[in-house]
Amino acid sequence: MPEETTTPPVATAPGAEAPSAAPQVPEAPSAAPQVPEAPSAAPQVATIATLGQHDGKLLFPIFRDGTGTVQGVAHVKSVAPEVFAALKGLTQESSVIVTGKVRADKRAPGGFELDVEIVEVVQRVPESDPYPITLKDHGVDFLMEHRHLWVRSPRQSAILRIRAEIMRAAAEYFDSNGFIRTDPPILTPAACEGTSTLFPVDYFGDPAFLTQSGQLYIESTALALGKVYSFGPTFRAEKSKTRRHLTEFWMIEPEVAYCDLDGLLELAENFLSHIVQSVLKNRGPELTVIGRDRAKLEAIIPPFPRLRYDDAVEMLNQAHKEGHLEAPFEYGNDFGSPDETWLSNQFDRPVMVNRYPADVKAFYMEPDPKDPRLALCVDVLAPEGYGEIIGGSQRVSSYELLSSRIDEHKLPREAFQWYLDLRRYGSVPHAGFGMGIERAVAWICGLDHVRETIPFARTLHRIYP
Ligand code: 4AD
Ligand code: MG
Repeated sequence: MPEETTTPPVATAPGAEAPSAAPQVPEAPSAAPQVPEAPSAAPQVATIATLGQHDGKLLFPIFRDGTGTVQGVAHVKSVAPEVFAALKGLTQESSVIVTGKVRADKRAPGGFELDVEIVEVVQRVPESDPYPITLKDHGVDFLMEHRHLWVRSPRQSAILRIRAEIMRAAAEYFDSNGFIRTDPPILTPAACEGTSTLFPVDYFGDPAFLTQSGQLYIESTALALGKVYSFGPTFRAEKSKTRRHLTEFWMIEPEVAYCDLDGLLELAENFLSHIVQSVLKNRGPELTVIGRDRAKLEAIIPPFPRLRYDDAVEMLNQAHKEGHLEAPFEYGNDFGSPDETWLSNQFDRPVMVNRYPADVKAFYMEPDPKDPRLALCVDVLAPEGYGEIIGGSQRVSSYELLSSRIDEHKLPREAFQWYLDLRRYGSVPHAGFGMGIERAVAWICGLDHVRETIPFARTLHRIYP
């Protein structure tokens, strides 16, 4: 796991002095001028032999404003004594407003340094209560406990920027392809994805639940508007403590009238490719900060491989025979994490596993007319072992079948009357899928765990901060 520091180590020339601080500049117009100027003063160069003369006279604070970091330079002779003293006394994560001259420097990471002229200390972190995240290694539990501060680190900030780009590009794909965003409720009277992972809520004395997926509701708006999507938080009371599960996560879900499984697969591959290519185009520096291999992402262009469940089972059993997988796979089960990991490692693009046995899938999935034991569904498994990032299907369009499925799954009929209405009045074939944003972020950023993909992760054992 990444053990990391909040800021790049402060650059200090031997003998020179620098605050071990990374004072930050708030993102305000009054903050340090970010407009590059033509190189003005030549940088002061000290020879090693004469470094002793500079001891205590040169400071190199690092400033951060949310868009990047810049190294400041202040020499005792070039700034007012009180400015030098203020800078010298700065502690890590103290906040400041800095004025100075921007100077191009090819050696600086951002290409510029800042010759400090004035510093206004907004808040000085006292030595008696120092910033808890230091340059030394911290365990991930400690960092998660300090997540409210950890998000300031360069790596975590980069991940959050990439997450924002993924969310932006995902919505952009639908917005620019004729989809209308319709927002389903978060408080719901019944389950969508199985009753075992519902979070109950006391709704004025009646039981209600936090939504597991907006799907059932956007089936309704799809029949009103044609092509729709929803984008919001979803909840699963997952007792599983894995690197892929959160109890609160964000899902984007398209739903399309008159769409079949083939159409859905095409939609999924174009959608995913658009997101990945947008991240490559717009978040290059952040991918560098987190050390992501761009070539792996550049390969994410359609068409993606399609793999029938039956064929996936064969691959798994072959892999078991060859000693790559511990247990043989039993036909008819859903894939476990090791199975998904192995399968998704076999392809350089997301693989679209389709037509699972209906028995292991949700009640609303349309059976395959060629073999009704199979569902017209898809799980998209991200490469590099990431596993499922998208789940979707064609939906049952017949009233009779849906009605009997509701009974078979022991779902409360009353709560589903409205959903059955969609099959009573002008039912049409339709299909949709859901993508968990955090799973997509983990894959695109190459992270081990979804806990770093969201500002504040909610998991089985964590609801703080
Ligand atoms: O496969 P799921 O359960 O499918 C549905 O909810 C459908 N109703 C979606 C639809 O057809 N409109 O969940 C969809 C996706 C998964 O592929 C995964 O990316 C994500 O949601 N997901 C989770 N992400 C993080 N933590 C969890 N506990 C997740 N459960 C599902
Ligand atoms: Mg699923």
